[in-house]
Formats: sequence, C-alpha cells, structure tokens
Amino acid sequence: MPARQPHAMTTPRVQAFDAWIRGRFIDLNTALEDLYADLPNRSAVAGVGDDLKAQLTEEGRALIADLVDEGNTDEGFDRNFELLGNVGYYMAACRRHEITEPSRERTSPLTEASALALHLGASVGTVPRFVASHMETYNRAVNGKYRTFTWRHAERVFLDYNTRTTFAYMRAADALGRIHPMGVSHPAAGDLLNDARRALEDALALNTELSDTLDVDDFFFAVRPYYKPYRVGSTEYRGANAGDFAAFNQIDMLLGLCDPTDTSYSQVVVEKLMYLTPDEQRRLRESFRHPNLLDSFLSLAEHASEPWFQQHAAAFLDVCTALGTAAAQHHDDLVANFITAPSKALPDEQMQGLTASGPPLEVLLDALEKLRDRRLAADRDDIVTRHADIATLRGLLA
Ligand code: HEM
Repeated sequence: MPARQPHAMTTPRVQAFDAWIRGRFIDLNTALEDLYADLPNRSAVAGVGDDLKAQLTEEGRALIADLVDEGNTDEGFDRNFELLGNVGYYMAACRRHEITEPSRERTSPLTEASALALHLGASVGTVPRFVASHMETYNRAVNGKYRTFTWRHAERVFLDYNTRTTFAYMRAADALGRIHPMGVSHPAAGDLLNDARRALEDALALNTELSDTLDVDDFFFAVRPYYKPYRVGSTEYRGANAGDFAAFNQIDMLLGLCDPTDTSYSQVVVEKLMYLTPDEQRRLRESFRHPNLLDSFLSLAEHASEPWFQQHAAAFLDVCTALGTAAAQHHDDLVANFITAPSKALPDEQMQGLTASGPPLEVLLDALEKLRDRRLAADRDDIVTRHADIATLRGLLA
C-alpha cells in the first residue's frame, strides 16, 4: 500500500492550482518585484510589467475557474482553509500589483476568485480572504518550503520570525490559561508563571533578531504591500496582520493588563474575531469569560505574607514586565523603524492604504501606542491602565 500523504490535495484541479501558487506564481511576483526595485519611486508600480501582470491574472483565473466549475468537494477544514489561502494569495498579489484597487472599483473584477473565496470562507467560518494563519500556523511546507509571494529573502526572514514569535506568544497564553481553574495559590502556578515569562522573553529575543536581520526597504516596498486590504465580491476586507491570533489578547486579558469591558480595547479584539481560524476564535471568546490574575492576587492580599504569595506574585510581576518589554520593542523598534521611518519619504497620495487595517498612519500609531501602554501598565490618565494596581501588588512584596 502506498504511504499516505498527511495533507495530500485530493482533486487534480486543487493540486494544479497549488503547484502554480508554489512555483510559477512566485516567479511572476518576483520578476515584478525585480522591475519595481529598479524604479526611482518603488511605490509607483502602475503600468510597470504589464505583460507579466496579464500572465499572472489570466493563468490564475483559468485555474480558479476550473475549481469553481468543480464545485464543493468538501475536503475538511485543513484543505479548504489551505485552498482559501491559495485563492487569497492570488487576490492579494493582484491587489499588490494594482491589477485590482478597491478604491477604484465597487466590486472585485476577479469574479471567479471572489466566488470561490466566498464559498470557502463561508464553509470554514472565517473572512473570505487570506489571513495571518495562512502565512504562519497553517502554511504547509513542502520539502522545507512554505508558501510565499516571492523568492525574496526579506519575505522568508519576516515570516520565519513572525511564525516563531507567534508560537512563543501561544506558549505564554497556554501557560497562563491553565492557572485560573487551580487558583494562584496552587503550587504549580509558580511553574506556569515562569513558563509564561520565559516564552515572552523568547518572543522578545526573536523580535529583536528580526529587527537586526530584516532589510527595511525590502520589507516596506516588496513584502508589506502583499498584506493590503482587497475586495472579495463587493466587500473590502482589511489586510492581513501579524497580530491576528488569539494569544496576544488572551495574555492581555488573563494577566489583567487589558480590560475586556473597556470599549476601546474590546473593539480591537472583537474586530479581529473573523480573521482567526475557528479554533482561535474559540480561544479568544473563552478569554473574555475568565477571571484575571492581577485581580486574583489583589483579592488575596490578606495572604501577602505567605511564601506562595511572595513567590507567585513576584513571578506574575515578572510576566507583566516581560510582556511590556516585548510590546515596547514591537512599537518603538519594529513599527518605528520598519513602517514609520520609511513612510516619511512617501508622497502624500501613497500614504493611503499603508496600514493593514486602513486608517491613516497617525491614527493607527496612536492606537498601537495605547496598546503598548496598557501592556506596560503605564501611568496615563487618558486611558485605563493598571498602573496603580501593579504598584499596590509590588508594595505587598517583601
Ligand atoms: C517588521 C516587523 C513588524 C512590523 C513593522 C509590525 C507592524 C505592525 C503594525 C503597523 C501593526 C498595526 C496593524 C495595521 O496595519 O493595522 C501591527 C499590529 C500587530 N503586530 Fe506587528 N509588526 C511586526 C512584526 C510583528 C511580530 C513578529 C509580531 C508577533 C508575532 C507582531 C504582533 C502584532 C500584534 C499582536 C498586532 C496587533 C496590535 C496589538 O495587539 O498590538 N508584529 N504590527
């Protein structure tokens, strides 16, 4: 009996499209990026490489039309989600090369791709576009190579590190989520808090290495543009965002540094729900229901002199510090050096559509700064932070 392929794509049409996405599609995008890299203004891509753009559009369209004709072959979540990713990569590349442009159109001209993406999104329970999980946690590697848009080094660097950091945050979220059923005084709670701290320190180390390794211009001009918003049918969906995993918000809420009843925070979280896989959606929903650790420690202040309280509260505060330090690095290093700095050289008309979520850069930066300061429990009076409560807990330590 031949060995079973763990994720073999079952229909020949699905396989043909996957083979195209993993080869010829990447060649075409890379050839276009090489043309753009020689332009005096690397963002002015309209009218450049039109023959390559036509090949990309038509070859993808023909393969997708075959899949639409084939209809629903329900292959289970993993395969349908992977196929949605493949259609999404195609649609995102068309957006990147300005073959489509959502402000120019009321409906996506990619009619076959829209039909397939809507069908698949509805069947798996996510938005009908490619999302962060397609690039990271569900990006199946074939002989060591996962799906990318281009062969450029910067894209691999960005995704390798992103994926590894995401898993580090997931390890932290998992450890923290296991504490509340046992309570913070349980002897194992100290181990879990230390696990979470170590995972967040790993995340910081990885993001620092990313910052040292990634080429700013290549990231800004040849990687990020693939993550822009695009239309599926008539609806425009915001871009793919590295933050689209439950773990980041699970950690915020489980620690108690962000409050799920604070509208300006919960809005950010609720907005991202449909950009997550159903499994991640469930985790995120659950974290709205759980008590937070900071409140738990403060409610047990009468036991402050007990050894468990001293050890566990100190370990908890170290987790908060590790989260705050990682959040500060994301904002003050990654966002500042890889988005804000290169965007200063752009002409005004190209500032539009710079961010994955769509708002002007300064609005986004303000929102990201508030997230950073909640995670740092900074002393701010314009937003809710746990600055005073963290100080109270620190005051209980000998
Ligand atoms: C060069 C590297 C990176 C840059 C320039 C960057 C930049 C950004 C920007 C601009 C946003 C706002 C999204 C939008 O456009 O609407 C964002 C959001 C976010 N990013 Fe990154 N990012 C980088 C890497 C990472 C990595 C490696 C992680 C962790 C795995 C991460 C985690 C997040 C999270 C969680 C959010 C959502 C907002 C929040 O909860 O803080 N980012 N990032």
